[in-house]
Amino acid sequence: MNLRDEVLHVLLSSPEQFISGAAVAQQFQVSRNAVWKAVEQLKSEGVRIASVPNRGYKLESVPDLYDEKSFLSLVKDCKIPWKVQWLSETASTNDFAKSLASDGTPEGQVIVADRQTMGKGRLGRQFHSPKGGLYMSLILRPKLPPTQMMAVTACTAASVHQALAEFGITAQIKWVNDLFLNGRKICGILSEGSFNAELLRMDYLVIGIGINLHPDPHLSEVLQPIVTDLQTETGQSVLRVPLLAAILRQLDRLLPELSAHTFLPVYSHYSMTIGRMVRVQGQNGEMTAKAVGFSDDAGLIVEKSDGSREIIRTGTAMFVDSCFT
Ligand code: BTN
Repeated sequence: MNLRDEVLHVLLSSPEQFISGAAVAQQFQVSRNAVWKAVEQLKSEGVRIASVPNRGYKLESVPDLYDEKSFLSLVKDCKIPWKVQWLSETASTNDFAKSLASDGTPEGQVIVADRQTMGKGRLGRQFHSPKGGLYMSLILRPKLPPTQMMAVTACTAASVHQALAEFGITAQIKWVNDLFLNGRKICGILSEGSFNAELLRMDYLVIGIGINLHPDPHLSEVLQPIVTDLQTETGQSVLRVPLLAAILRQLDRLLPELSAHTFLPVYSHYSMTIGRMVRVQGQNGEMTAKAVGFSDDAGLIVEKSDGSREIIRTGTAMFVDSCFT
């Protein structure tokens, strides 16, 4: 860890207290000038630090920045060895993670970016990713057939739901990959992977999660009725590192139990799709039917006008009574 990270961790560990520059210098065996430089670097990144002669340094507010030691302490009980690489900008964290995964990077690697320039959504859509949101992709290597990919996405949605619940936020889940608050989207999930044709299973999975945390002043008029953010809907300013850690803890708990479908009760209970009339792609083309439940692999069970049922495993469910797709 470099001195900037060490100083940030010391300040975060005692947010109410002044920390003497001399004490920090002694702790890390560096000069006081080096500590001052690390503090100046943090200030230039937007961290508000009070500097008072003879007293030292103190955080004026808790910054929304990655601090490895704090993160590791939050995921210390996880079975998957989560490891974060935090980027200031990338085209897409999913693309970044996929290239690492195809080079052999092990399970547990997480890529986070402050912003994405080419964020991707499902079905070839764009995912607008300005600074201030949480954009993360994680590499997994479960021994799963590709038919379980939809269940992985649904399990991730249930995990994000449970992570938000830790902050007192109750979201709704729209089949298969979206989370909503008060009728507008706050989170999207994109699972991608590489199939190993010899072993007939996935070689790796990359799960991408994007969460809108703060209002985006540049949100287009087209997206305004559809998209929202946690701060607007709850008044809360959720910090990215605790939320990232909460999501990873929930995934760590629910993903190994995928075949036991432990995620399904939460996924079903908070579904905003069940009970609605939806437009979906059925076996015989597009149709309108009533969403009535989920199969074990998170397919959407719909009931047609003649009373027969079909499980939908591709595409999306468009509510016939609203603009959401
Ligand atoms: C959707 O809404 O259809 C899915 C959106 C997924 C967005 C996340 S943000 C992090 C990761 N990187 C991407 O390019 N996409 C996912």
